[in-house]
Amino acid sequence: MTTLSKLQPLHHPLFTKHEVLIQVKRDDNIHPTISGNKWRKLKYNLEHVLQSNNINGVLSFGGSYSNHIHALAFACFQRNIPCIGLIRGEQHYASNCTLTWAKHWGMKLHFVDRKTYRRRHDTDYLTELQRQYPNYFIVPEGGSNTLAIKGVAEIITELNKQTEYDTLITPVGSGGTLAGLITGDLNSNANLHKLLGVAVLKEAEYLKNTIQQLLPEPVKKHNNWQLLTNFHRGGYAKFTPLDANRILEFNRITGVDFEPVYSGKMVLAFLDLLEQGYFAKGERIILLHTGGMQGIGGMIERGILKAEYWSTFKK
Ligand SMILES: Cc1ncc(COP(=O)(O)O)c(C=O)c1O
Repeated sequence: MTTLSKLQPLHHPLFTKHEVLIQVKRDDNIHPTISGNKWRKLKYNLEHVLQSNNINGVLSFGGSYSNHIHALAFACFQRNIPCIGLIRGEQHYASNCTLTWAKHWGMKLHFVDRKTYRRRHDTDYLTELQRQYPNYFIVPEGGSNTLAIKGVAEIITELNKQTEYDTLITPVGSGGTLAGLITGDLNSNANLHKLLGVAVLKEAEYLKNTIQQLLPEPVKKHNNWQLLTNFHRGGYAKFTPLDANRILEFNRITGVDFEPVYSGKMVLAFLDLLEQGYFAKGERIILLHTGGMQGIGGMIERGILKAEYWSTFKK
C-alpha cells in the first residue's frame, strides 16, 4: 500500500513550552478536490459501485455546502458514475459555490425540506428512496458506512509506518472518520494509541452511540478513544471572530492552513487542552488534517468569514 499523505512536523512556541511533539497528517493534500477524509471514505464505496454489475449510480445526502457532496460529485464524474445528491434546503442553494461545482460535474440535485432530510437514516425512508431510484447505491450522509471505515482505517496503517506516536486527534461530524481510526488502530497489531475526536456540532453525545454502531464487532472492545463534546463553539459551522483569528494565527505560525468548521475546531480544542495541561510532557501527538478547504468559499459567500480569510491562505 502506498502512503497517500505526508506527515509534517509542526513548530509553535506553545509546543516548546508544554514539551509536546506535534505532527500533522496531511490528508488535506491527498487530492485537490477529493481531499482529506472524503478520499478515504469514498475509496471503497466507489470501488464497490464499479465492481457491481447491478448498480446504476450513487445517491447520497448533504447540506448545501457539504464537503461530502462536493467530493462525491467530482469522484463520480471522474469514474463516469451517475450520482444524485439529496440536499437539505431550498432550490436557490443550487447556485452556491459548492453546488455549482457539484452540478457542473454532473450530479443531479434534489432539494428536500428539513423535515424530510431528518429522515435520512430511517429505514422506511431509505426503502422508499431505493424504490424511487432503483439500483442506486445509497451512501449515508458524510459517506460514513462500513466501506468508509475500511478506507479510513488505512490512515493508521500508514501512520504506523511513518512514525511512533501516542495520541491522534481528529475532528468529528458524522463519526465515520473516528470509527475508521478506532478500527484501524485495533486491527494494526501495533501499540494502541489514544484517539481523540473533537465533535464540531452541539449536543453530540449521541455520536458515541453512532460510532459504536459503526465499529465492527471485535473492535467494539477498543476503549482507548474519547469523543470530546465541549469544543463545538456554539454549534456546527459556528465560531466567533476571535476563534477565526486564533486559527489564522496558528496557520501563520505553523505554515499549515486549517479551516474553521472541522480541522480548525480541532486545532482550537487541541490548543485549549494544551493550555489546560491535558497532555503529558514528551507526548507525541498527531493532528489529522481532514481537508474541507472548499467550504471556505461558502463561508465567505454567506458572510460568515471575511474575504481576507481566503487571501491569507497560501496557494
Ligand atoms: C473536512 C471534514 N473533516 C472532518 C469531517 C468529519 O468526519 P466524520 O463525518 O467522518 O466524522 C468532515 C465531515 O464529514 C469533513 O467534511
